[in-house]
Amino acid sequence: TYKPKTTIVIFGATGDLAKRKLFPSIYRLFKKGKISEDFAVVGVARRPLTNEEFRSNVINSVSEVDQNCENIEGFSSHFYYHPFDVTNTASYQELNQLLGTLDDTYHTEGNRIFYLAMAPEFFGTIAEHLKEEGLTKTNGYSRLVIEKPFGHNHPSAQQLNDQIRHAFKEDQIYRIDHYLGKEMVQNIEVIRFANAIFEPLWNNRYISNIQITSSEVLGVEDRGGYYEKSGAIRDMVQNHMLQMVSLLAMEPPIKLTTEEIRSEKIKVLRALRPVDENNIDEYFVRGQYGPGTVNDVNVNGYREENNVDPNSITETYVAGKLMIDNFRWAGVPFYIRTGKKMAAKSTKIVVQFKDIPMNLYYKKGVNEPVQNPNLLVIHIQPEEGITLHLNVKKSGQETQPVQLDFSNDLIDGINTPEAYEKLIYDCIRGDATNFTHWDEVSLSWSFVDPISSVWESRITTDFPNYPAGSMGPKAADDLLAKNGDHWWPLSDFENKK
Ligand code: BG6
Repeated sequence: TYKPKTTIVIFGATGDLAKRKLFPSIYRLFKKGKISEDFAVVGVARRPLTNEEFRSNVINSVSEVDQNCENIEGFSSHFYYHPFDVTNTASYQELNQLLGTLDDTYHTEGNRIFYLAMAPEFFGTIAEHLKEEGLTKTNGYSRLVIEKPFGHNHPSAQQLNDQIRHAFKEDQIYRIDHYLGKEMVQNIEVIRFANAIFEPLWNNRYISNIQITSSEVLGVEDRGGYYEKSGAIRDMVQNHMLQMVSLLAMEPPIKLTTEEIRSEKIKVLRALRPVDENNIDEYFVRGQYGPGTVNDVNVNGYREENNVDPNSITETYVAGKLMIDNFRWAGVPFYIRTGKKMAAKSTKIVVQFKDIPMNLYYKKGVNEPVQNPNLLVIHIQPEEGITLHLNVKKSGQETQPVQLDFSNDLIDGINTPEAYEKLIYDCIRGDATNFTHWDEVSLSWSFVDPISSVWESRITTDFPNYPAGSMGPKAADDLLAKNGDHWWPLSDFENKK
C-alpha cells in the first residue's frame, strides 16, 4: 500500500462537512492502514478551540458514524486546531509556522493539502493568501481541494477560477464532485470498457434512450438560503448529472489516465445541444414541491421552508432531454431528472435498448406481441449493482422478462468505501481523475446558464406543481411522451435483493 506523508489543512473545520464526512473518512483511511503514522490534520476556523477540544469533536463525529472505533485516541492525536481569520495575514503566518513544526514531527516532507470546506466566497481570498504568505512554497507538494458550489454561473466561476489560478496551477487543484467518488459511478467506465458485450451496442444503432434519475426524499432542510439562489439546475444538474452523462456518453479513452479520461468527457460536454429561450420548453421542465406526504408524514411545501421566499420561483426539480450531437449519439435522448422531496431516495441509470426488428413472440391467447425492451440498469444508490433485463421463456411458461442481477455488498447498509474516503485518498496520492477539470466546469456552466436565466426571467404561476412525496410534475412525463418514451418507474427496480 502507498503510505502517504502529508498534512491536511481543513478550512471550515467546525462545519458540517468536516464533521459528517471528512473526519470519518480520514479515520477510515487510518483504520485501514492507508495512511501511516506520518500524517497530521490541522483544523482551522474562526471559533477559538484548544487542540483538546478539537480532538474531542473529532472523536465524537467519528464515533457517530463508526461504531467500532479502534485506536481513536491515537488517531485524534494527529489533529491540531488553529483559530483563524481568513482575511488576516498574521493568521496565515502563524499557520505556516505550525505547518513547519508538523512537517518535522510527522516527517511529512512538506506535503500539504489545503481543503476548503467552507463558504465559497472565501475561496479566492484564501488561495491568494496561501501563496502570498508562502504556505504553498515547500519542498513537497501543495494541493488545493475545493467544494462546490464552484461559482453561481459561468462568469462567477471564471472569476473564482482566475483567483485560484493565481496561486495554484490546474494540476494542483482538486474540485470535488462527490458523485465521482461513488462506487457505481466509477463502475460506469468498468461496465462499459471491461466488457465485450456492451460497447458494440453502446450507440444510436442499438440504444433507444438513457435515463438518469437522482431523486431525494429530503427537502432543503436548513439550506434554504443557499438553495433559493441555486435551485436544482445549479445544485445537481451543472455538476453531478452532467458528470454522469459524460461518463455514459464518452468515447473509450486510450488509457485510463486523468488527461485521457478528462479529454473524452470534455468532448461530450462540447457536443451537448445548447438550450436557450427558443427551444427550452422542448428540452427542459422545472418543478417545485408543494405540501404533501412523505413516508406517511405530512410535510410542508418548499415555499413554507425556512429562509425561503413565500413566493419563490426556485425550482426544486428539473427534468431534461439532452441531445449529444455527435456520431455515436445522434438521435438518442439522454433524459435526466432530479428533485427534492420526492417519493424515494434513489439514483439510477436505465439504458433502454431499441426494440427487436420484428416480433415473433405473442402473449398467449391475445394477439399482443411480447414487447419488453432490454434494459441495463445501473443502481448507484441506495443499493449498488447492475441489472440486465432480458426476455426468456421459463420452463412451461410463456416468454417473459427476467432480470440478471449483480449486487455490490454493502457493509452496514452504507457505501463502502464512502465517496469522500476515496476522493481524499486520491488527492493524497495525486490522482485527479475523479475530480473535475476547469474545462468541464466551464462547459457545464455554459450549458446551464441560458436555462437558468430563461427560467429566472419568466414568472411562473404554476408553482408548486408537484406534491411532496411524488415523482415530480406531470410535465416531466409529457417531455418523454413527445418522443414516445416514458420514465421507467424506479419501483420496478427496487427491492431486487
Ligand atoms: C449535493 C447537493 O451536491 O448533493 C445536495 O448540494 C444534494 O442538495 C446532494 O442533497 C445529494 O448527494 P447524495 O450523495 O445524497 O445523492
